[in-house]
Amino acid sequence: MKKQARHKKKQSYKAVARVLVTLLILITGLIAYYSIRGGDRTLLMVFHSEKQVADTSGAWNLILVDRDHYIPANYQVELTELSNGEKVDSRIYPELQQMFDDARAAGLALFVREGYRTTKEQQQIMDDRIKEYENQGCSKKEAKKKAEEYVAIPGTSEHQLGLSVDINADTSKCSSDAVYQWLDENAYKYGFVKRYPEDKTDITSINNEPWHYRYVGKDAARTMKQENLCLEEYLIKYK
Ligand code: DAL
Ligand code: ZN
Repeated sequence: MKKQARHKKKQSYKAVARVLVTLLILITGLIAYYSIRGGDRTLLMVFHSEKQVADTSGAWNLILVDRDHYIPANYQVELTELSNGEKVDSRIYPELQQMFDDARAAGLALFVREGYRTTKEQQQIMDDRIKEYENQGCSKKEAKKKAEEYVAIPGTSEHQLGLSVDINADTSKCSSDAVYQWLDENAYKYGFVKRYPEDKTDITSINNEPWHYRYVGKDAARTMKQENLCLEEYLIKYK
């Protein structure tokens, strides 16, 4: 009798566990479905746990760093200083200079607002941006989320590689739009791509930045331009 009661109890525990597991699967599925449908990748990223160190075994100009790919701690960069004190990876300097010479010959006034940054500088930019949003009334969590839409998490910025530049117009001489348009149409000829376009924000996790250009080399830049691929898409398709 006692044995029978124990058996019954065990069976009912098992039934409850089965119901709980089924419910958990159902709820998880529903949350995943609605978050994907709503364009929210946060949950997907938690499941995938995509964070990893960037792969540096391929071509130097195609290294992918983004929200999910950190720069290795031992990453080395040789820098060349521009006339305004900004620095870039020496390997991109000749084509950057040629692009600027040609843009200037076309009547544009432009300059490198920011080139290479240290991790410390990237952290400072992030902290300042978060503070800015907090001062506008955002909670700490909201402020961080908003800041990360424009500022790469320290350790994941292409500026830390020296392979990206923020290019601005001298607005006393020409408009920002004129510079951005010229770059959009011509930068690929020199091996640069607009890294964070408006139509790729769900992939890059960064808002539209018409000033941020990344050196990927002429071949990759041409293909990315022709096929409208961002770096993440290009690497999946061709590497
Ligand atoms: N603004 C770009 C995403 C950076 O911080 O590297
Ligand atoms: Zn930038």
